Amino acid sequence: MSVVNEGSDLNGGAGERAPVPPPEPTVPLDSISVPEEVRCLVDYSPIPAVVSDPRLPDNPLVAINDKFLEMTGYEREEILGRNCRFLSGPKTEPFLSDKIREGIDQRRPVLVEILNYKKGGEPFRNAVLIAPIFGEGDELHYFLGSQVELNGQELGPSPTRAARASELVKTLSPRQAEVMKMVASGLRNKQIAYELGLSEKTIKMHRGLVMEKLGLRSSAEMVRIAVEAGI
Ligand SMILES: Cc1cc2nc3c(=O)[nH]c(=O)nc-3n(C[C@H](O)[C@H](O)[C@H](O)COP(=O)(O)O)c2cc1C
Repeated sequence: MSVVNEGSDLNGGAGERAPVPPPEPTVPLDSISVPEEVRCLVDYSPIPAVVSDPRLPDNPLVAINDKFLEMTGYEREEILGRNCRFLSGPKTEPFLSDKIREGIDQRRPVLVEILNYKKGGEPFRNAVLIAPIFGEGDELHYFLGSQVELNGQELGPSPTRAARASELVKTLSPRQAEVMKMVASGLRNKQIAYELGLSEKTIKMHRGLVMEKLGLRSSAEMVRIAVEAGI
């Protein structure tokens, strides 16, 4: 896992970007369908969240929640089926884009605070988390992305969010924290059960307890807190 927070300035003095139309989709939009459980990941997320499918050309977005549309100003049809790089612009830090690419290539969670641009061209500092989701066996099925727009108060934001996440994780039992960490690494209940030598039912119970104890509404939040806490 890697957390990168090297930007000291909120938006690096970046000016507005002239609005750029998103690229053409890399897959026909009517061919996009995602299983209910994957859709729920973003639909129940209280923060902006998306899912991409790396098995399709250029790893396009296949699920997008309303919060993401509100944050970025795009319509769903404009960005579905496109790679999420349309959020980058002239002042986006190339070394942070490299970090994201490395995380994606190596199929591990990555959290960076990168300069992005809204549809209208307004720059914003985005604490974006990208984490893999594996299917049966070790096949990579999806990536989950979740975004937090950092504002002035949150400058020096990672310490604040990381500290909060660490405090939350401390309230868990070692087993619950272990299960949470495995969820964040993209494993399904069945795989976690196998790795820990427990039943799937027990894993579900632990997941449920983590959600309850931390007051979470979606697994996407669980993944985000695990990565922010650095477990
Ligand atoms: C699920 C998912 C969500 C992403 N969300 C963002 C994001 O919010 N902001 C961003 O700058 N890049 C995001 N990316 C990364 C871009 O899609 C892209 O990989 C990155 O800009 C590097 O660009 P490149 O592939 O052209 O090198 C996301 C990637 C995935 C797979």
